[in-house]
Amino acid sequence: MSRRIDIVEVGPRDGLQNDPANLTTSQKLEFIERLIECGVTRMESGSFVSPRAVPKMADSAEVFAGLNRSGAVRHIALALNEKGVRRAIDAKADEINFVLVAGEGFGQKNQGMSPQESADMLAQCAPLVHEAGIPLSATISVAFGDPYTGDIAKGVVGGLAAQAQRAGVGEVGIGDTIGVADPWLVEDRIEEIRLHAPDVFLRVHFHDTRNTGLANVAAAVKAGVDVVDASCGGIGGCPFAPAATGNVATEDVVYMLERAGFETGIELSKMIDTAKWLSGILGHDIPSSLVRAGMYDG
Ligand code: COA
Ligand code: ZN
Repeated sequence: MSRRIDIVEVGPRDGLQNDPANLTTSQKLEFIERLIECGVTRMESGSFVSPRAVPKMADSAEVFAGLNRSGAVRHIALALNEKGVRRAIDAKADEINFVLVAGEGFGQKNQGMSPQESADMLAQCAPLVHEAGIPLSATISVAFGDPYTGDIAKGVVGGLAAQAQRAGVGEVGIGDTIGVADPWLVEDRIEEIRLHAPDVFLRVHFHDTRNTGLANVAAAVKAGVDVVDASCGGIGGCPFAPAATGNVATEDVVYMLERAGFETGIELSKMIDTAKWLSGILGHDIPSSLVRAGMYDG
């Protein structure tokens, strides 16, 4: 049997949080339904952050209330402080993804926290999530470089992952928020986390800002990572990162992995159609290569 790589679709959160379009709650719900029809089983469906900081996510509680919960889909809520975690629990999120930050500059701009303060906040919030019986994961943002304070010293990401493991986090995502990673650094970060936090599952979260996104996914999968974040159409980015661009496009990741013999459970032609539909409701072009090139049936 071929190896399975699980895709976590982040379009409804990372994808939409910085897009110029203002989708209605029902358009977001339609996007989520279409993604489920493509075979997505795990997705970040919204974030519980300050609506003043990220106005596009202000209706996440309404999005969660409107979800069709009949299938076996895990809807993840992103949070980065106690208020957000409490709101995510109230919204009946199936999983909470907590944002740790590896860089001081981005940490202050994005969430008003130093890296250590983000880890302390996780330790404070984790018991609430465990009591609610909800799986807890964490993504370490700017794990490869901070747009304000530069490279991340060796050991910082491993140290944060160790604190996440101690807080009972099951899965740690390594986030390249500003798209500065390269495949060799990806291997180093994976090794570092395995050394400091051997019990957590690993996930990777790449933005394709400098054309290294897919190469980074390939490096992570070669290093044994089984879970990859991606965004339909390749839309998105962080409002607090200058010149932010989208995540690796789900259909591009699925194409690469399935062509190489991995299984993702995602129907590529439907994902391409969904990305085209998304481009239509957003009212602008999207970065996806597969939307431009089309299917290859060779
Ligand atoms: N959900 C909703 N509102 C929240 C909130 C949350 N999770 N956390 C704080 N707030 C509200 C507070 O209630 C307060 O409201 P008020 O002014 O009406 O009283 C206001 O936001 C400011 O709260 P404060 O604790 O002083 O926060 P801050 O202004 O220092 O901002 C964050 C800190 C973390 C709330 C803010 O930076 C944030 O939400 N960032 C999100 C960034 C993001 O989502 N980035 C992309 C994904 S990584
Ligand atoms: Zn991101």
